[in-house]
Amino acid sequence: MPKDQDDPMTGPAHVAIIMDGNGRWAQQRGRPRLFGHQAGAKRVREIVAACPAHGVKYLTIFAFSTENWKRTQAEVSGLMLLFRRYIEREAKALLENGVRVRFIGDRNRLDEKLVRLMDDLELLTAKNDLVHLTVALNYGGRDEVTRAAKRLALEVEQGRLSHKDIDAETLSGFLDTHVLPDPDLVIRTSGEARISNFLLWQSAYSEYEFVDTLWPDFSADEFGKVLANYGARERRFGGVIA
Ligand code: FPP
Repeated sequence: MPKDQDDPMTGPAHVAIIMDGNGRWAQQRGRPRLFGHQAGAKRVREIVAACPAHGVKYLTIFAFSTENWKRTQAEVSGLMLLFRRYIEREAKALLENGVRVRFIGDRNRLDEKLVRLMDDLELLTAKNDLVHLTVALNYGGRDEVTRAAKRLALEVEQGRLSHKDIDAETLSGFLDTHVLPDPDLVIRTSGEARISNFLLWQSAYSEYEFVDTLWPDFSADEFGKVLANYGARERRFGGVIA
């Protein structure tokens, strides 16, 4: 049973976004890929700010996947530096604007300084409740489920849990997202129609919206239109309309 069966006419409570197209956006302008990522970071600020007006309580964004390490060293280190700078620059505004920030993904491979900033920002904003922003960083859906399965196996091995007690809810409780509702709507920008290992388990019943706009051009206005489009759909969660 999905955790978040909201009224479809009221709009999605949890929106997840695959922010794709930064590289192409920069390329079209004859600029390095990192220029596109910087422009993308500005859009993150704008989209987070637009959430309360649209009743979006949870926003989850895909910032760096477990597969993104395959990019050039220059792009990877540039992105890591961008994440650090973003946290340093945005922390105060996020706190003042009621945004609670969480990070999901495997922190083990991330730079120590970055992890410290992530931990501090989570702590700093822990009392906020207006918008719950979750940033997926070194995140992969399969990796998340694998890590959860390992921790579950350890619980069984050490006698704290019986295999008979394991159901979907138990497994959900071991995922990075265990405190979040499932996403109602997943948006991917840049015209690609793929999930790319994002929230595989959690998006079992989500609606998908693929838009052609490249992420650095995805405005608050367009975000509003996509949300309005969602409001017009019916969600059945595998059942039938009453
Ligand atoms: C995908 O575009 C984008 C990424 C891999 C990085 C996403 C990062 C940001 C939007 C930067 C800011 C984020 C935060 C949280 C501050 P791509 O490079 O795959 O584009 P392409 O498909 O056109 O090459």
